[in-house]
This record gives sequence, structure tokens and C-alpha cells, in this order.
Amino acid sequence: MANIDKIGLAFDDVLIVPGKSSVLPKDVDVKTKFSRHIPLNIPILSAAMDTVTESDMAIAMAREGGIGVIHKNMSIERQAEEVERVKRYESGIVQNPITLSLHSTIGEAKKYMEKYNISGLPVVKNKKIVGILTKRDILFEENDNKKVEKVMTKKVITAPERTDIDEALEILKKHRIEKLPIVDDKGHLKGLITIKDITKRKLYPNSIKDELGRLRVSGAIGVSGDAMDRAKALVSVGVDCLVIDTAHAHTKKVMDFLKKARDKFNTVDIIVGNIVTKDAVKDLVDLGVDGVKVGIGPGSICTTRVISGAGVPQLTAIMDCAEIARKSGIPLIADGGIKYSGDITKALAGGADAVMLGALLAGTEETPGETQFLEGRRFKVYRGMGSIDAMEAGSKDRYFQEDKLVPEGVVSRVPFRGPVSEVIYQLVGGVRSGMGYAGTPNISALRNAKFIRITRQGLRESHPHDITIIKEPPNYDITR
Ligand code: XMP
Repeated sequence: MANIDKIGLAFDDVLIVPGKSSVLPKDVDVKTKFSRHIPLNIPILSAAMDTVTESDMAIAMAREGGIGVIHKNMSIERQAEEVERVKRYESGIVQNPITLSLHSTIGEAKKYMEKYNISGLPVVKNKKIVGILTKRDILFEENDNKKVEKVMTKKVITAPERTDIDEALEILKKHRIEKLPIVDDKGHLKGLITIKDITKRKLYPNSIKDELGRLRVSGAIGVSGDAMDRAKALVSVGVDCLVIDTAHAHTKKVMDFLKKARDKFNTVDIIVGNIVTKDAVKDLVDLGVDGVKVGIGPGSICTTRVISGAGVPQLTAIMDCAEIARKSGIPLIADGGIKYSGDITKALAGGADAVMLGALLAGTEETPGETQFLEGRRFKVYRGMGSIDAMEAGSKDRYFQEDKLVPEGVVSRVPFRGPVSEVIYQLVGGVRSGMGYAGTPNISALRNAKFIRITRQGLRESHPHDITIIKEPPNYDITR
């Protein structure tokens, strides 16, 4: 007979007890970790879901100081391209700039410019730079078959290796140019510095970047079929972290795959999820994971718990797993079930290092999918990766399913929310406020805060009550 040994708590079952405080919300430190080797400036990640994270979202998240996990409901080639788009988007020095040859056509150049959102391409012959082609050069060119050689700028201003960003800026200013190819003493192209990247650096000082100055990005992989090829392809384009994304990671199949992946890829971090028990953390730590992801069934679009009868309320799952994760020195991501910013503060106080968000980021400009109109309001689709629609598009292996599908998620509609940066601002603002109430200057101190269990009446009292809201604030959704 199954036995019961404890009560599981959800975020709504508790509040953080305000403590004596000498910290102001604006001064608290919300820096944290995503995985063993990847620090974050805010404790927020975007979910590996096909209505949440592709390259646009991942770029926006990394600029805000968090990170995006690009979903895998697409071909290996396309997912690698999405990762590459992020890695090329903003960098101090582009290490492997996309180049043209003298025989390339204007049509090819236009294709690259559009695909990678870039405005200029160096032209090389035998690795040596012989010209540069910018959007300006082809502005009035209508013949796509014309050779690049005919229209490129031949006199190229270059700089030697080890030119730093400030020196580069001076050269760009002096010559009134936008791109500065970096060359070695043989004239071989070694990199490219652009004014666009320098400007973006200033606009997003909180960005999360790798050692080459490129935005960081993570990619989801599964454990079946061609999962290892997918991992290899993502690693080859510079993904910072692989997230083995399954509905139940404390399984032989996932752990066997992890063992193999760990042996193969020692230059990237590997996070594994999802799990909800201490034993699961122990087993994954023994296999060398760089982070764990916690949550079975708390997600807004999940039906796992009601369909299968299995799961653990999210706050208890976080607190249990955190005990072992902390001792093992690996970060813990709380995945799913975050309804308001206050839940993020509770997840962090309960031991999470960061939270993964689906619903709260769904509907923003940067999510994949079109906006729809209904009764004059804009909406976007947000669907569970265990919904029939998403599983048919590729995610059935997340739920270890093959033929006739038993869904564990639903398809929903969420209001259009504008740019994700606005949403993140409100969410981080809420966390800062919570840390101010708790009197804790940083996330590690927040873990010493006290929870109080509350009743249904306490929860009712916590929300606006006995009034009619006539103006919707930006951080409280009255439809939720
Ligand atoms: P939120 O609450 O932020 O949750 O919308 C997002 C997380 O939910 C998980 N997920 C699912 N879980 N069925 C499930 O049981 C599903 O169809 C499903 N789709 C996503 C996932 O961990 C995600 O990050």
C-alpha cells in the first residue's frame, strides 16, 4: 500500500514573513547562477517551449541578464540556426564573421544579411580581406546576379589583433565607418568589430555574455532518437548549456543518456530535468550534472498531475531538492507554476537559484507565433509541450510517448503583453520588493527568510478583494 509521510505545499500555501530590514529594494543584489559555470544577473529563464523561446526571446532574455532555453520542436538544423543567431547577435569581436568571396552574388549577400540580421560582410580571397560589402553598397542594386566584386568597397580600414573595444571605437569614429575587420600580420581576416555591437553593449549593461562577448544561450535536447546529434549540432555552434528536457528525469533512460552526453561534451554545462525528489538530485549529481530543473506538473498549461495522479506541489519539491543541490554545489532551477512575481521570491527563498517561466512570458512580442484578435483584444497562443498539438509537432519524446498520444497539457490563449523587457522589469521589481520586506540583501541571504503557512482565508485576503478593479496594473493580471 502506498504510504504518506508529508504534506506538499504550493506557493499559495505560504508567505514570506517580513524581517527587520535595512535594505532598499533598489539596492538588493539579484545576481545568481543558471548552471555550475554560468552566472546570471537576474534569476529568470524563459521556458523551452515552442510558444515561448526561439532566438528572439533568447536574445531579449540574455540582454536583460537572464537566459533563454531554445525549444527543440524543430529540426536539428533549425535549432542550431536559432542558437547561432543568438551567438552572432551581439558580440564584442565576431570571431568567425560570415564572409563573401569575390564571386559571390549580391543575391547571396542579401540572403546572409537578412538571415543573420547583419548589415555588412567582409569579402575574402585566400583568407585575406580584399573588400567589404555593406547594405549601403547595394541599396540601389536591383540585379541580384551581379558579382560582389563589382560593388564592394575595396579600400578597407582594418585593425590588428588585440585591438580592444575602446581603440576600435576610436578608429570607427575617425573613419566614419561601421565595421572594423581585424586582421593578422599576413592580412588574414581574424574577426570583426561593429558599431552596432558597441552601441548595444551600452544599451544593455546587464547582458549575460560568454568570454568572447557573445550573448549566452541554452538549448533543449531530449534523450531519444537523434538526441545526441542534436546536442552535437548545438555544441558546434557555441551553445552555452544543454538542457536535457524531459517530463521525468529520474529514469534509467534519461540517466543512461546523461552518462553518455557527459562523456562526450566536457566544454558545455549540462542541466537535467525535471525532477522533484532528493533521491533524484543525488543520482543526477553522481552522474555529473551542472544543474537540476525541478517541477512535475505545476505549470499553468500542465495536466500531468490530474491525468497521471503523480507530482509534488512545487514549493515542497523545490525545498526538498534544494537541500541536496546546495550541499552538492549545483544550482537549482524552479520550473513552472509561477503566477506572480511573489512566487519567484518564494521559489528563491525556498532554495531555487532561478526560475523558469512559461505563462508569464507567453504573449510577449518576442515569443514565436502570430498575435490574434478577439473582441478587440490581442492574444497569442501558449501551449503545453504535452498538448496534442505540441507533441505532434515533435515533443512527444519529452513524455516518453510514441503512437496514440495521451496528452499532459493544454492549448491556451494569453493576452498580448508587449516587449518582454517590460514584463521582466515588473517581475524583478517584485522580487526586489520581496527581498526588501524580508530584509535580505541578496539571494543567498533570502534563503534564511521564514515562511508562514497560510489558510484559504489568508490567500483570499492577499489578493484584491471586495472591490471591483477598474484599472489593470502592469503586474497583476485580473484574468488569472
Ligand atoms: P508555467 O507555469 O510557467 O510552466 O507556464 C512552464 C513549464 O511547464 C512545463 N510544461 C509542461 N508540463 N505538461 C506538463 O505537465 C505540458 O504540456 C507542459 N508544457 C510545459 C515545462 O517544464 C515548462 O517550463
